[in-house]
Amino acid sequence: MNLKDLYIDFFVSKGHKQIPSAPVVPENDPSVLFNTAGMQPLIPYLMGQTHPYGTRLTDYQKCVRTNDLDNIGDTYHHTFFEMLGNWSLGDYFKDEAIEWSFEFLTKVLNIPVERLAVTVFAGNDIIPFDQTSYDKWLSLGINEKRIAKTVEDNFWIAGETGPCGPDTEMFYWRSNDPIPEEFDTEDERWVEIWNDVFMQFEKKSDGTVVELPKKNVDTGMGVERTTAILEGVTDNYASSIWKDVIELIEKISGKSYEGNEKSMRIIADHLRTAVFILADPAGIKPSNTDQGYILRRLIRRAIRHAKSLEINIDSNWEEEIAKILLDKYDVYYSELKDNREVVLNELKNEKVKFNRTLEKGLRQFEKETRDGKDIDGETAFHLFDTFGFPLELTVELAQEKGLKVDEKGYEEKFKEHQEKSRTASAGKFKGGLAGDSEVETRYHTATHLLNAALKVVVDKDIHQRGSNITDERMRFDFNCDHKLTDEEKQKVEDLVNEWIQQGLDVTVEEMNKNDAVASGAECMFIEKYPDIVTVYTIGNISKELCGGPHVKNTSELGHFRIKKEEASAAGIRRIKAVLE
Ligand code: ALA
Repeated sequence: MNLKDLYIDFFVSKGHKQIPSAPVVPENDPSVLFNTAGMQPLIPYLMGQTHPYGTRLTDYQKCVRTNDLDNIGDTYHHTFFEMLGNWSLGDYFKDEAIEWSFEFLTKVLNIPVERLAVTVFAGNDIIPFDQTSYDKWLSLGINEKRIAKTVEDNFWIAGETGPCGPDTEMFYWRSNDPIPEEFDTEDERWVEIWNDVFMQFEKKSDGTVVELPKKNVDTGMGVERTTAILEGVTDNYASSIWKDVIELIEKISGKSYEGNEKSMRIIADHLRTAVFILADPAGIKPSNTDQGYILRRLIRRAIRHAKSLEINIDSNWEEEIAKILLDKYDVYYSELKDNREVVLNELKNEKVKFNRTLEKGLRQFEKETRDGKDIDGETAFHLFDTFGFPLELTVELAQEKGLKVDEKGYEEKFKEHQEKSRTASAGKFKGGLAGDSEVETRYHTATHLLNAALKVVVDKDIHQRGSNITDERMRFDFNCDHKLTDEEKQKVEDLVNEWIQQGLDVTVEEMNKNDAVASGAECMFIEKYPDIVTVYTIGNISKELCGGPHVKNTSELGHFRIKKEEASAAGIRRIKAVLE
């Protein structure tokens, strides 16, 4: 049996319910592009909401982390990985969590206790030393010299805010060297394999930490790292997860893994991530924004490395590799079966697109660097804009020649370019409309009115969580803990129509992002906006950061009617409405 099955079976035997892996693209959390940890889709439940499967949950979750592509190519970083986890939502706490972690490691995986070490939270001004966890490990037979107390590494939070708490991490001695008696957290031969987080706090955006309604447990174990350990290999790519993929790349390239590790790992890693992003129900395609841009960068970087291995890019190499990955994972993730053709087609399309300019771009790069000079921002931007070279590709090519890239200069050029296209589309708006039909424009404005009305009628803390507009209707997702009553719906509808009848002016201004936020303008994901933003104000009832376009006066909207109000996801409601 493989690790995933062993893990799930074990926690099911301890009263947990297996929950399905959530998509890699979060369904209702615009604050992140991808799920980066098993707990991410469970945040509402860790915050106190009741989970339909109960209080003990377990799963394997698809995760994508692309913050540091430079690390890919070493033995153990991956942009996609699977995380095993078990959760207690106000059920068991430290005692059982640690006991079961220990039991699973030593009895199911048969890891000798001598190879294990742990860390526990040492305590700070706010949260005391985690004596309970310390004592528990001792009682299970972990020597006190193998229990390190640290502060920095023993407090876990997914980002800046949200559920969090002290944790205890488990380490494995991954080396043939004699195992030292004392655990030194700086010694890299000790590798972390599992983390039990005791989530009893919430960090608010003002920095304060408050108790959660319930004490939870959130754990995470990386599948690829633990598999490699169990199979006794020090290179993750030598484990059963990757072996056949690497062998296939060897066959396709006619080169051996030895001496070509970095490129082969990058190809294997990036294509696997691309396969999962493309198969995701979110329907992401390669593009120049958000998830689509990450996808594009991964595919293009894989292609560049395939080229460096002298693989014939025109052959169906990427398809062969994608197929072996699809076959390997589709028993666990049905979307890989459902979207197999989409994955293969999109990979090919992106390859063909990039391949058209890759050769020319590489020649241009050679020309620019012939005299051994570093690459300025303008050249890096030119390589992006004309030849589709994502910045890190230029950086990587430069590094191979011992040259530097002016990344700041690139960012400046990039921003300049963005400003230009923004001004161009704003110009278009003034003279007509920036691509949207007039009907859609009316829906854009109605969306702002609905957002404002929900705040007045239902709850001031309601915010937009998603929106979709066609020329036939608008759809608006928002956070709300209950189904709207008929009365609430009626009031919201009436209020929007009242504002429409008042004939409120819609004004637009450009502002510095921070000033806009400080002035109370509403926005969905602030970090995604450029420094200068467009703010739309409707009378004195709504102020939002928005790309527009909008009508000039609410009297242009017609009559607003809510057609449907329904659940969209946990804690998220959806309204479909029309303008008549
Ligand atoms: N959420 C914890 C982690 O990712 C378990 O390490």
